[in-house]
Formats: sequence, C-alpha cells, structure tokens
Amino acid sequence: MKRMIPCFALTPKANSFWLALFLLLAAPAFAQKKVTIPITTEKNVLVLQVGEDKRVGIIYFGPKLKNASEYEQIPGMYRKGDDYSGVLNAAYTTAGSRNLVEPAIQVTHADGNTSLALEYVSHQEKKENDNVTLTSILLKDPAYDLNVTLYYKVYHQENVVEQWSAIRNNEKGAVTLHKYASANLYLSAPEYWLNHYHGDWAREMQPDEEQLTAGIKVLDSKLGTRANLYQPPTFMVSLGKPATEEEGNVLYGSLEWTGNFKFDLELDPLHNLRIIAGINPYASEYALAPAKEFSTPPFVYTFSDKGKGEASRNMHRWARKYKLLNGTGKRLTLLNNWEATYFDFNETKLTALIKDTKKLGVDMFLLDDGWFANKYPRNSDKAGLGDWQENVKKLPHGIGYLVKQAQKNDVKFGIWVEPEMVNPKSALYEQHPEWVIRQPTRPEHLYRNQLVLDLSNPQVQDFVFGVLDKIMTENPRVAFFKWDCNAVIYNAHSAYLSKQSHLYVDYVKGFYNVLERFRAKYPKLPMMLCSGGGGRVDYGALQYFTEFWLSDNTDPLERIFIQWEYSYFFPAIAHDNHVTDWGKQPLKFRTDVAMMGKLGFDIVVSKLGKEDLQFAQDAVKTYDSFSDVVWHGDLYRLVNPRQNDFAALMYVDAAQSKAIMFNYLVSNRYNAGSPSPVKLSGLDPNKKYKVKELNLYPGTRSALPADAVYSGNYLMNIGVNPLVNAQRTSVILELTETK
Ligand code: GLA
Repeated sequence: MKRMIPCFALTPKANSFWLALFLLLAAPAFAQKKVTIPITTEKNVLVLQVGEDKRVGIIYFGPKLKNASEYEQIPGMYRKGDDYSGVLNAAYTTAGSRNLVEPAIQVTHADGNTSLALEYVSHQEKKENDNVTLTSILLKDPAYDLNVTLYYKVYHQENVVEQWSAIRNNEKGAVTLHKYASANLYLSAPEYWLNHYHGDWAREMQPDEEQLTAGIKVLDSKLGTRANLYQPPTFMVSLGKPATEEEGNVLYGSLEWTGNFKFDLELDPLHNLRIIAGINPYASEYALAPAKEFSTPPFVYTFSDKGKGEASRNMHRWARKYKLLNGTGKRLTLLNNWEATYFDFNETKLTALIKDTKKLGVDMFLLDDGWFANKYPRNSDKAGLGDWQENVKKLPHGIGYLVKQAQKNDVKFGIWVEPEMVNPKSALYEQHPEWVIRQPTRPEHLYRNQLVLDLSNPQVQDFVFGVLDKIMTENPRVAFFKWDCNAVIYNAHSAYLSKQSHLYVDYVKGFYNVLERFRAKYPKLPMMLCSGGGGRVDYGALQYFTEFWLSDNTDPLERIFIQWEYSYFFPAIAHDNHVTDWGKQPLKFRTDVAMMGKLGFDIVVSKLGKEDLQFAQDAVKTYDSFSDVVWHGDLYRLVNPRQNDFAALMYVDAAQSKAIMFNYLVSNRYNAGSPSPVKLSGLDPNKKYKVKELNLYPGTRSALPADAVYSGNYLMNIGVNPLVNAQRTSVILELTETK
C-alpha cells in the first residue's frame, strides 16, 4: 500500500534530518487518516477526499451533516461497484491517463506528450470575512511540471459556491490547453431532471425539462459575442424527481463568462451525474507559455433541498450582495425613445421627449440608437456603427445640448452605445479594416448588417473604452449607458492574433479589460447590459453592469413567461422591463407586468389619452412607493403561468413588514381566472398584514374588501384571492404590517 504523506510535509525546505525522521516515524499513523476536505456553506457541503493514489475525488454533495467526522464514512455507503478507471468521481478529471470519460482538462505538454494526471499536494482555507471563505487545493502532475489549483469560494449564508481552476505551466516550453473547465461536480441520485433553456431573438428563456439518461447531454454556445442567443449559460438539475417551488433537491448552475461556454452532463456507468462546466473548448486551444497561469472563469452554483424557490433566493441574495454592480442600491426609472422614434428624430423631437420624461415622472430620458455618424449617417441599422460622433443634422448642438435640456427638466440623461461593432458602411471600417473580425479569404457575412470588432487587439480595446470615455469626458452629467451588442461572430479570424484559436477567449478577456478600465474610472455609473434583447446575460458581465435587458419582446403576455424564467437565476433589481406598444393588452396590464423588475417606458407619452396619462403618472408614483421591496426583497413564485390561468408572484422585504404581490391572467378561455385563494409565502405568521390593491386604473374600484387585515398565519395557510378574471386581468396587492 502506498503511504500518504500529509500536505504540510512537502515543502521545499523539508530536508532537515529531524523532519525526515519525524516523517518516517509518523507516516504510518498518517496513512490511516485520509485527507478529507469539506467545502461547507450554511446548509450544504461538497466533500472532497484524497485517495490512496493521491487523487482528489468527490465523495458527497448535498445537505450538510451535523457531525463532520462522519463524511469519511460516506464513500462506503455509496459504493455501487467499481468502474474500470476508478476515477469517475474525480474533482477535476484529466485526459490521457486512467480516465475513460469526459475530461475537465486536456493538455499537450511542452514535449508533445498528451497525458495528464493530477495528484494532491496541499490545500488551504482562507477566511475573507465572516461570510466568505476561499478553499484552494493544489494539484500537480507527478510526471510533468504542471500544476492545477482548484478554487472554491464559499458564500456561507447564501449557500452559494463559486468554483474555478488555475492552470500553471512550470514546464520549459508552451503547454497547449485543449480543454480547461472551471468546475467538475459529481452527484448521486436515483433520477436526474435537467431544466435548461433555448431561444432566439424575442424568444429568450424557453424552458425544457427532461430526465437525463445514460450518455452526455451537452449545453453550449459557439456564437462568440451574443453567446446566449440560442442558449444561456444557466441550468438547473433536480435530484430524485423534478423539484417544485417548495420541495425537492435542486442544483442551480451558471458560468460567469460572456462568451462560448460548454456544460457536459454525463450520466456515468455507476448512474452518477458528472457535471463539467467551463469555457467551450470548441476552436479554442490555448497555448500557455512557461511560467504563465490560465485562470478559468467561475462557475457559480447553489443547492437547495427545499425546492426552486429557495435556490432562487440564494442566487438573488448572492448576486445583489456580491456580484451585480450596486446590487444593494437603487435604479433609475426611465423613458426610452427607441420604439417611440426608432432612427427618426432630431433635437426638437428629443427635447419634447425629455419634457415628456418629466411629465411622466420617471427619473431619466434614455436616448437610443441613431444619434451618431456623419459620413454614413446612422439613419437605419445599415450604416454608421463605429463612427461615434454626434450626427450634425440630428444633433447640431451635440449631446451636451440634450444633457442641458434634461437638467432643465430635472431629469437625468442616458445614452445607447454599441461600441464593439461596425457597419461596413462606416468611416471606421474604411480606416481600420484590420480591426474587424473576418476571414481574409472569404466573403463577409453580416449579422444585422454589421461585423464585430476584434477586442483581442489592445488598440481596439482602447477604441472601445474611448467611445464611452469621450462621451463622459465631454458630458460628465451623462448618467447611464445602455451597452448593446447585436451581432454574433461569423468567420472568426483576427488580423492581430498569431494563434487564431485564442480568439474566442481573448475576445472576452478584451471585453473585460475594457470594462475594468471603465469601472476604474466610473465605478458607479449605472449601465444596462443589452444584446439585441437578452443575447448576453451572464454573471461574468453582470459584475460590471447594474441591470440587463431581458428581451426585445415586450408583449406583456410573453414577458410574464420570460421574466418568470429569468427570475430563477437573476434578481428583479437587474431586470429592465419597459412598457411599450407591443401586445394587445391595456396600458394597466403592460405597466403591471413591467413593474416586476425595474420599470421603464418606451411609448409616445404625448399620444396617451387623458386617463392613460393619469394612470401612467400615478403608476410611476406607486412604483416608487414599493420598488424597494421588488429590488431588495425575497421572491416567492406562487402560481405558475405554465400550469394555471394566471401567474402570481410576491416579493417580501427583509423585515417581513411589507410585501407586493403581482397577479396576471394568461388565458382568455371561458371563466379563466383565480378560482381560489393563493397561499402566500415568506410572511411572519405572527404578524398582521393589511391587504390593499394598488395601481388601479382611473375610475375603477378594487373588487377586494377595503383595508382587510389578515394574520401572516392566515395568509400562508388560507391565502388571499386576487380575484383575477377577464375584467381584472392584472392585479397588484400590497401587504403592509399593521399592529
Ligand atoms: C437592440 C436592442 C434594442 C434597441 C436596438 C437599437 O435590438 O435590444 O433595445 O436598442 O438594438 O438598434
């Protein structure tokens, strides 16, 4: 039997006679004791164990045990027979040695050898503060000077873990990384149910639920920039049976990477689920020079044994506190001109819209696409992208004039940019064809008439940073950016890079470089992440953004479903919802739906009838009175619109003294509505709550009893009927604690 030498003995200075003697005597005792590494949150644990062969394996993932010493006994319980490799549960599965299944890492060494084995060297736990701990585990190939450190950053109270790896090349020449995943998990359950999403423009977050069977289910993206157009880097797996809102074991996972990703969900021969999550290795072999380290993006996950609702609240709390920019702060309500004018505007029209912004009562006017370019004016999406000078015909006095108008009207001013892109019909394209991603020998292939700039090139990074920096330097009062990204990468080729297989990765690194620089200079400026709708929604980007645009589809009926699905992973404070003219529903319905996040408008205010205008103005005030609860409260999804005639959700503040409940009819069949009370959640059973209907249309009255008071106990066991029906298609209720 091989002897296990404990980690602390393997220091370079450990060559003194006495230490050697100590090791010799002590080693047999240590051999009995396996190194077990529990990565623990408040409720859950991932237990890693070093085997006799020094391989680190996962022996348990799930609810935490009371007695940590019992983790060591778990492997015996789970034994289901041996597989041929003995490494199915590897904490970071290598390719080219014993492993026979999907690897997490695959490399070619400097000498051309393609095998890799990783052995445990040491581990350490670093407490960053009372809530956050970083555990790192150092692994090394015994035959080559290649190290991998596995990182597990634990957010204790939120039950969230961020996991990534860092690959270090200490060999004499470059090592090629073929696959370099962020995380490798191993779960055991009788059944595995996967929820994942697909979509397209205006159809984001279409859910699918399926039972995983033997083999590998792959979720991935190869689109480069707006990587999530077909699929977001986000999924959940229920263990045993499909989890519901209140019940079941469920893991949520999301890759913090704004580019190509890949998740392998492999049901192995022992009926355990191997999950490998990371950057998509597709066309992305990465050369790692000697003495360099490659750090993979974090894969963030949470686990709940109390269903999807708790898992969402875990994610939301973590995102607000640790990931989103200013996640615990406020957001600006706004009037956007995109659907009101499209490209057809001038100073006079915009000045009128700025006045309408004030009239409506929202915080900010947001000027959208079409304000720039002179040689090839941006009067449609066919020209001008890349030329970020104000169009002199539309804005003869520049952005500064509009900022002043906004100031005069006591509202803020925000502006749209899409700095990563270029129309072939632009001065930029003519001046810098070498900045454009395209194959030199092939015809250009455009997406929305545009091409992508090569952000792997530092000059392009400077340019992109410069677009925003110039606007801010010239107009320091600009209060908001909407950063758009409307094209995918076709014909991936960089005139700058010598290794083409670095392009997808270096593009994203370049994007983050620009955002780092931007945030160093403008740390707090609110900014919307947009990508022709929700083509780019991930926590890698969201650390630099305060919010994101969910979809160009603002038909409120569609939107209920889109917002519902996003709500599993992303908190409402990050959801930008605009009231537009999409859909057939009345203004009240459209507004009520948009209130379930950050409220904005993209309508022609001057065309609103008297009552609609009154309603919209009142709605903004009403929203201001409860937005704090929606932005920072806990979400409970109560009635699923996919299984019922209506949707119901509620947000409860931390003190459990105020809650807002949203109800929306989604069926127009005969008698569709809320037939019985909806049981509420998250309240204090011992408190009393006054229930009041909000946001009524002028001239209408609530069908609910006025000022009714119920105990939390009553509301959570019996509930309240919002009385949704064909005459009351959307209903917002406010619950306020009363003594
Ligand atoms: C994208 C965005 C829209 C709008 C247009 C402007 O489609 O999603 O909101 O900004 O671009 O061209």
